[in-house]
Amino acid sequence: MDTRVHDVLLVGGGGAGLRAAIAVAETNPGLSVAVVSKVYPMRSHTVSAEGGAAAVVRDEDSLEAHAYDTISGGDWLCDQDAVEAFVREATREMVQLEHWGCPWSRQPDGRIATRPFGGMKIERTWYAADKTGFHMLHALFQTTLRYPPIKRYDEFFVTRLLVDDGRCQGVVALEVATGKVQALLAKAVILCSGGGGKVFPFTTNANIKTGDGMAMAYQSGAPLKDMEFVQYHPTGLPFTGILITEAARAEGGWLLNKDGYRYLQDYDLGTPSPTPVKRSMELGPRDRLSQAFVAESKAGRAIPTPYGDVVHLDVRHLGEAVIDKKIPFVRELCLKYQKLDPVKEMIPVRPVVHYMMGGVATDLDGATPVAGLFAAGEVACVSINGANRLGSNSLTELLVFGARAGRAAARFAGAQPDPSSALVAQAADEERRLHRDFLGRTDGTERVADIRSEMQQAMEAGAGIYRDEESIQVAATKVAALRQRFRRVALQDSSRTFNTELVSALELSNLLDLAEVILASAAARRESRGAHQRTDFPERDDEGFLAHTMARQGEDGRPRIEFDPVTITTWPPGERVYGR
Ligand code: FUM
Repeated sequence: MDTRVHDVLLVGGGGAGLRAAIAVAETNPGLSVAVVSKVYPMRSHTVSAEGGAAAVVRDEDSLEAHAYDTISGGDWLCDQDAVEAFVREATREMVQLEHWGCPWSRQPDGRIATRPFGGMKIERTWYAADKTGFHMLHALFQTTLRYPPIKRYDEFFVTRLLVDDGRCQGVVALEVATGKVQALLAKAVILCSGGGGKVFPFTTNANIKTGDGMAMAYQSGAPLKDMEFVQYHPTGLPFTGILITEAARAEGGWLLNKDGYRYLQDYDLGTPSPTPVKRSMELGPRDRLSQAFVAESKAGRAIPTPYGDVVHLDVRHLGEAVIDKKIPFVRELCLKYQKLDPVKEMIPVRPVVHYMMGGVATDLDGATPVAGLFAAGEVACVSINGANRLGSNSLTELLVFGARAGRAAARFAGAQPDPSSALVAQAADEERRLHRDFLGRTDGTERVADIRSEMQQAMEAGAGIYRDEESIQVAATKVAALRQRFRRVALQDSSRTFNTELVSALELSNLLDLAEVILASAAARRESRGAHQRTDFPERDDEGFLAHTMARQGEDGRPRIEFDPVTITTWPPGERVYGR
């Protein structure tokens, strides 16, 4: 087997991975850094982020206000020390990104333009029109090219973490173009592989978001934290799930039911702020907006379509000039994928799975409990998002915590011996497993696509916007049966070259692990908080559940759930308060 050795290895080439790679190279230019990604980095999911990235920049804003909005938006489940570090370092990272080439939109006087975003009482969302993720990723990617020690393994799918003597010392990766299995050894590994929205059937997430990093960390002994919190974004296009950015509502778009009525005025989106700022009801927090949609649909006030009920997002009153300047991508997406022009027509939208608040538990420097293993970005739970992430915090999160993880991993790697030779034997075992369970199997009867689609339907029915004990248990029974069926999966393609069916099977195995963890965590949390709404326990219960779920894989392969305390530094639990 081909074996390569680096000092620090990044798994994932999106925003967090590239930011971390730069931080490693800047911290210690003598280290060799490798970015391993299952897609070419510019195809990572960061590219599709639209609306913006949050950081304090306006005179009337403060770090305290950003922290408070984030913590109350997260229904008091955020670790407040992490939020404090986040808001403190956010603006510096955003300015740094501009110096690396990110073209932040400007006000006429040249200062940074900001837009309001859901759940934030003060405007602090920087943007690059509505293609913010594209520009951020581009700036990061081109910056990595300036650092010769950063090497890339593009289109390499990581199948396993190599852990020896309690320390993560590399990965096994499949080169998709050739089917060759490689051992990539390192003194530190940083997971930056994103979330796993594909556990669900209807999502804004690209097909690549299959929770690989979360699943591999879990299989290697790292706990997954707060996995029951899955965010639905209120405005996805029906059928495709393509995101229609919150920026459309920030710029003044309305949500209308079948009677053309702005129905959100009838819902509690949070107590009005004692210092109200002018903002629209459409900018309530995402969890509450998605729940309001369900109520409208149940009351028969949504619009039925072949792809389920929708409501309308109306931006016509903004006019063509504003639409083309501020949200051109919304127009482009509607024209291409919905065959309508939002300048003249209303956009059908419905809630869609968008983001996982949970992930691999880390400290403030991205370190997981497994020595040598770090994580940053959506794959990680540090945790600044609590029970409900505020839109535009995650792009900044990947910068702040990508950089922190990169610096910490560089320091860690600098003090480690070379990776152990036992790892090559582990990598050879992994190669044999891939052959035995997939490529060489002749007795399989099950298809990847069938199992995946049944899992997704079960998850939507059992752990969607609303859940209860029964729905969660029904889904858990189904997922357990699917896990058994997966043992009999058969690949139609046994070739080595670009075997995307093999990659899909490996991704599905990861998705099944995530599905089990989400359901076990949701069953354990017998309260309602943020995005986790239990109809059988409709109230938030701080006495019993002001705590993080921590899922560890038991010896039988099943998740074991424990609770860890939330770090409260300054802001005691209170009511969620938003300005109107
Ligand atoms: O609507 C949006 O543009 C999404 C932003 C986010 O999830 O941060």
